[in-house]
Amino acid sequence: MLAPMQGLSNRELRDLFIDWVRPDVVFSEFIRVAGGKRKTLRPAQLQDIAPHEGGVPLVAQLIGQQPELLAEAARALQDAGVEHINLNLGCPFGRTTSSAIGGELLSQPAQIPPLLAALRKVVTGSLSVKLRAGYDHPQQLFELLSPMEDAGVDFLILHPRTVIQQYRGSADHTITAEAVQRTKLPIIANGDITTAAQGQQLLATTKAAGLMLGRGALADPRLFKRLRGQAPSEASADELRKDSVHLLRELLPRYQKRYCGQTQVLAKLRSLLPYLQEAGCRTIIEQLKRAKTLEIFETQLKRLETL
Ligand SMILES: Cc1cc2nc3c(=O)[nH]c(=O)nc-3n(C[C@H](O)[C@H](O)[C@H](O)COP(=O)(O)O)c2cc1C
Repeated sequence: MLAPMQGLSNRELRDLFIDWVRPDVVFSEFIRVAGGKRKTLRPAQLQDIAPHEGGVPLVAQLIGQQPELLAEAARALQDAGVEHINLNLGCPFGRTTSSAIGGELLSQPAQIPPLLAALRKVVTGSLSVKLRAGYDHPQQLFELLSPMEDAGVDFLILHPRTVIQQYRGSADHTITAEAVQRTKLPIIANGDITTAAQGQQLLATTKAAGLMLGRGALADPRLFKRLRGQAPSEASADELRKDSVHLLRELLPRYQKRYCGQTQVLAKLRSLLPYLQEAGCRTIIEQLKRAKTLEIFETQLKRLETL
């Protein structure tokens, strides 16, 4: 599965990944569900989740804390053609002035079952949850497994860091293995998967039902193919560099169609640069980050290609 990544895993990136390396499932960036006047989805959100060509299922991810509003958003998504809904219980930047959302909800576990019940009532396709191992302790996950089963959740995606850990340290997949033992729900393992060998070993040792790739897929899009044995299991620095050029070059015209003006297009392209493999090409990546026009960006891209 291609991970949800706010600001990055938009429709254009997902379409490119589907055309190029065909993940089995793709996720939308999170859709924030908040109170106030706006009840339905914005046109840009509807455009983003319009059905993909090619039959790869899209899971739309919601983040919020009010059961009725989440259910209403799920209904609106289904009306727009989305079948599968995911609830974000993992985002570590979720505290707003008035409420907890995302991973912050793991510090208030009693709030979670009503959210799941409200969603389960309306979601006719799969309902999944993406979560961290806990708020401030990795054992907190285990207390949530029964409520998730009782709520009729179909599968979990586990990123085994705590919320307060953010992205520090490493994902502890011994927790993934323990969770697989302790629930009948399928668990998709996520976190720090960067090579095919590591992904395959993770599947074998944890008995997880599948893998979700985030940053590793941006640095090496063909990791999906490597995991399936459809591309060499290891990538050379040279191949990674060429694939980074391909990624940016393919996205450029897609972003030009979707976004208005070169400032926006450049900003969207730039947001990918921190995740590309830098070995041997750090200077050019820095120059890509600083490019003020698309013309300069494309010149630097050509330099990166012919290094
Ligand atoms: C830039 C960025 C944005 C992210 N946005 C989301 C998001 O919208 N929803 C979500 O559930 N996780 C989000 N994540 C977390 C990833 O989906 C994933 O769980 C995390 O990066 C660990 O997996 P990885 O090591 O394969 O990247 C985001 C991560 C990054 C780096």
